[in-house]
Amino acid sequence: MHIDVFALFLIYQKDLNFAIFNLSNSFKYITKIMSQFFPNYELIHLSSGIKLKVFNCQDTIFQFASVEPNAQLEPHQHKESQLGMIFNGSLVIDLNGNRTLMQPLSHIYVAESNILHGASNLEPKITEGFDLKRITDNSATSILKLLPDEDTITNLPCQSVTGTWFKISIIKIPSGCPIPSHQSEQAEIGFILNGELQITIENEEQYLNQGQIYYAPSQVLHQGNNLSNQEIYLIKILI
Ligand SMILES: [Fe+2]
Repeated sequence: MHIDVFALFLIYQKDLNFAIFNLSNSFKYITKIMSQFFPNYELIHLSSGIKLKVFNCQDTIFQFASVEPNAQLEPHQHKESQLGMIFNGSLVIDLNGNRTLMQPLSHIYVAESNILHGASNLEPKITEGFDLKRITDNSATSILKLLPDEDTITNLPCQSVTGTWFKISIIKIPSGCPIPSHQSEQAEIGFILNGELQITIENEEQYLNQGQIYYAPSQVLHQGNNLSNQEIYLIKILI
């Protein structure tokens, strides 16, 4: 009888530990997906062969877009200003009837509030890129080229482009290179094109992979570190 009770106690304790383990893991999961600094995304399939990963960052919407061959996004307009860039493939961007063939990582497009804009992939391979939308006081519809620059936080050479409401930089972070702790007036959204980058925002540390973003709101301290053995391409957007 005593042995049975003891066995039941062991089973109970094992289940309890298992339940606590599961509960703590669930909380970790919930913490991770609900984080303001490392937001989760909503996956949207447009019927036109375009797949979007949509991230909400307070007043800004950030999207990764994957555009299948021959897919077309019909010209549309909205009150938010929009900018975008592609990482691979190519894309024809239509800004108010003016069509431009976009090449990877070399140019961005900007569509002012309520300007008609659309896109089409004329190549036989998938094109990937991002776009970002927010309400702005002033903007200008244009195609802008990234130019050689120096990143003010890491002092690394970079390619950058500056507009009236944004600055975008592409920085190659060498293996073992830290990104010093900093904060700024502007909010920062960042993502990487390869590898894994350690990012800490306030007290939250994450290892960022491809397809994820970080979001550091205005005046929030953040830093990073490339702990991997490869060079990592970081794209940083100040808004
Ligand atoms: Fe749009």
